[in-house]
Amino acid sequence: MCGIFGYIGHRNASKLLVKGLLRLEYRGYDSSGVVVKNGQLQSYKDIGKISEMASSLPRMKGSMGIAHTRWATHGGVTQDNAHPHLSNDGKVAIVHNGILQNSDTLRKRLVKLGVKLNSETDSEIFCHYIAMELDRGKEPLEALQNVLALTRGTWGLCVLFEDYDFVLCARNGSPLIIGRGKDEMFISSDPHAIREHTDQLVALEDGQIAKLNSLDFQVMQTDGKEVKSNLLDLEEDWGESELGDYPHFMLKEIHEQSQSLQHCISGRLRHAEGTSVLGGLQIRPQELAQLPHVRLIGCGTALHAAQIGQILIEQWARIPAVSHVASEFNANDPVINPKALHLAISQSGETADTLSAVKEIQRKGADVYGVVNVVGSSIARQCGKGVYIHSGPEQSVASTKAFTNMVGALALFALQLGRSRHLSKTKGKSITREMRMLPDKIRSYLENPGSIDEAVELVTKAKSVLFLGRGISSPVASEGALKLMEIAYIPCLAYPAGEMKHGPIALIEQDYPVVVIAPNDGVQDRTLNAIHECKARGAKIILIHEEGDPISEVGDVCISIPSTIPMLTPLLSVLPTQLIAYHAALALENDVDRPRNLAKSVTVE
Ligand code: M6R
Repeated sequence: MCGIFGYIGHRNASKLLVKGLLRLEYRGYDSSGVVVKNGQLQSYKDIGKISEMASSLPRMKGSMGIAHTRWATHGGVTQDNAHPHLSNDGKVAIVHNGILQNSDTLRKRLVKLGVKLNSETDSEIFCHYIAMELDRGKEPLEALQNVLALTRGTWGLCVLFEDYDFVLCARNGSPLIIGRGKDEMFISSDPHAIREHTDQLVALEDGQIAKLNSLDFQVMQTDGKEVKSNLLDLEEDWGESELGDYPHFMLKEIHEQSQSLQHCISGRLRHAEGTSVLGGLQIRPQELAQLPHVRLIGCGTALHAAQIGQILIEQWARIPAVSHVASEFNANDPVINPKALHLAISQSGETADTLSAVKEIQRKGADVYGVVNVVGSSIARQCGKGVYIHSGPEQSVASTKAFTNMVGALALFALQLGRSRHLSKTKGKSITREMRMLPDKIRSYLENPGSIDEAVELVTKAKSVLFLGRGISSPVASEGALKLMEIAYIPCLAYPAGEMKHGPIALIEQDYPVVVIAPNDGVQDRTLNAIHECKARGAKIILIHEEGDPISEVGDVCISIPSTIPMLTPLLSVLPTQLIAYHAALALENDVDRPRNLAKSVTVE
């Protein structure tokens, strides 16, 4: 989604800005631009790929500038709507992430004042109002403070001035990180875009403003009161993520799942005691005894992981658990029990809907634990406690290895919770034994993935595809459908297998593809009913089943996965669905890693 990168120092800014934008590229965007101060403010922006924008970039000599990748919210994908936006006198340039709720009113006011608007965006108003404040004789900081007081909404905002040798930044609901180098400063919406330059990072908090020159920066509250900011502890080196020999990040990340799951569970399993230890999710025995329920929230793939987590917690810990769509969570003024346990699941740690649900829960008096991949991200910091899932960088918009590790981390947590209540050591040991074998089983499946091509041939010819699963396989069906839909653009429907006869069965006609996730899990016989009902109407069944299982007789295309205990099957049954989506997108010649309209991290509500 929208990304910001800024530089103030002694090197050529435009080169560093473009490099910074390329680091943010995987997040998804539709246009980009840079502005550099070289005496005057010199700017360039365009729609399309960053590399194309960069190749047309005029020579820019300055050593101070700001840049942006835009993902359209207000106004179409046009060059005018791309950032940066400049005031009409060319003296103020801004880049903005977030959404202004009262931009219509503010735009109308500008029009009445005779200010020419150059775009359809909400963001543009910032540069004009700031320029008007400067014209009234205000200093830049006061000008920004006055304009922020007019606006309602969210912002990660950077302002560059023709007449001043500093950059102002402000944050409200949209992340901004400052990086201190040697006689140079960096700004970004993503800490990992700065990491190659410095590990001296400071995250702005909501309601804060920062003033930066090449030597120093000050952070203050909106009212100008200076605040002390702490260095951001990213704990681990995020490292470079390059494609290597893979044609796409998605395929690379699918194949990394064995190793990344190993990373997630290693050091956290205690086989001798049949339990696990997640340092960030230690709960006092007294609180545990009184735990009324667990709530898990997330969006998209993280929601599907949350749904699996819900089942694991109920099964192993026997505590009522419920998962929620984060984007719906605040809509109905949810009742929050401060004694309950709340988990926010997110790969990026920046998903605005999830972050907003976290804040709502905290506002109502409860703690939220983060189950997050990106270290130092907004959700991780807002929660202040929780666990990292340790997937490493995930660059493909379609999430794969983060899903596996979210489920892995939630399984560890459910086990820990269960063992501290009634789950027996014997049962716990059977779980730890199976968990330890999973990375190898993932590797062995990926080495021999079965009839993916046949499945791809069926789904790519179809108008739509139905995914079915029962019990713990139902969220896997949802995840498979999401993956195929988002990168192959094939309409997909996911249903609990038993619900199929209550509506989706109307879709079935001759050769209609139905992907059924049917591990040997104790509810398989009823999934079999749904399969027969589909077959009776001419459907072609793409069956994901455990190796050696006689259920394979009913499949038209059979994909066998290694066996494990029922509750851990999602970690294996999801793999063929990822491969089907990947190869279908490839067959349809879609941009696998950057599907249209989507962003890697969705930072607006
Ligand atoms: O970063 P998050 O895990 O919070 O992201 C949530 C969703 O936006 C994300 O899972 C999305 O659905 C993916 N594109 C799915 O592949």
